[in-house]
Amino acid sequence: MAFPIVRHRRLRASAGIRGMVRETVLNPLDLIQPIFVTYGTGIKREIASMPGVYHFSLDTLKEEVDEIVSLGIPAVLLFGIPETKDAVGSSGFDENGIVQEATRLIKEWYPELLVVADTCLCEFTDHGHCGMVHTHTVDGIVHGDVMNDASLELLTRTAVSQAKAGADIIAPSNMMDGFVQAIRAGLDEAGFEHVPIMSYSVKYASAFYGPFREAADSAPQFGDRKTYQMDPANVREAIREAESDVLEGADMLMVKPALAYMDVIRVIREQFDLPLVAYNVSGEYSMVKAAAQQGWINEKAIVLELLTGLKRAGADTIITYHSKDAVRWLRGE
Ligand code: PBG
Repeated sequence: MAFPIVRHRRLRASAGIRGMVRETVLNPLDLIQPIFVTYGTGIKREIASMPGVYHFSLDTLKEEVDEIVSLGIPAVLLFGIPETKDAVGSSGFDENGIVQEATRLIKEWYPELLVVADTCLCEFTDHGHCGMVHTHTVDGIVHGDVMNDASLELLTRTAVSQAKAGADIIAPSNMMDGFVQAIRAGLDEAGFEHVPIMSYSVKYASAFYGPFREAADSAPQFGDRKTYQMDPANVREAIREAESDVLEGADMLMVKPALAYMDVIRVIREQFDLPLVAYNVSGEYSMVKAAAQQGWINEKAIVLELLTGLKRAGADTIITYHSKDAVRWLRGE
């Protein structure tokens, strides 16, 4: 039917009617707030490239967690900055590692708050890669291969130690082939068959992780992550990655980053029926914060529009550094 019978503006005429026909509604229950926990004491240090995001030591962490809980955010994603790093990332699977300690504390304070543990080695290895590397030096330049199968054992140990500490969800972000299967088998064997795996299934080798690598002190010391993270140009490959994770037993899928990859979110939503997580990453956050600090954009409106866009694209859950602010704004504060 054509104009004048169809008048689209009828359904936009008032806030009430716009609310009634709104297709996508952002809910605090959709959000996961990342937290960076560091060794040391008395630390609450803002991350320069991520205004509003801090490093917390274990003794200052409670204040942050209290706030997250009081806002009604159901889950946190934990990243750790360990005191010592080595070639295999042993502080990542140490029973008394920073992530394990933080997990125990948070679960003691708030048994209902979901702790999602990021399972990777890059924060714990001295070379900053997400797995074990085999290096060789040519003309003074270090080259390295990230070894897939050898890394799986370390990642599995990391996941099991996180579950032992009380993590509710294991979120492996390392992009080794077969990681879901290996970690599932390890968790089951250790008696954690009830702990779900939120797989970073579709993770691109992205420049948007820049600020995170400052936050987590995890920049690779040589080379890059392009031999294990995906080429930003590919979407059919995203389907293959997600498919193998489903076959290996993943409980939830993820697309990361989010904003430059909304088409990928849509495709994964349409092809798979597992819950889908979008990770609105550090660089995406930094761009919004920088423009807002300049007074060039309306931060509140932009953030709510972006997060609503991710849900509309097909995400069920969103990991975002904006979570706390978004909830305050949703509440009308
Ligand atoms: C660990 C990991 C990274 C991020 C989450 N887990 C960094 C990377 O892969 O380099 C990035 C998160 C962000 O940018 O906010 N592998």
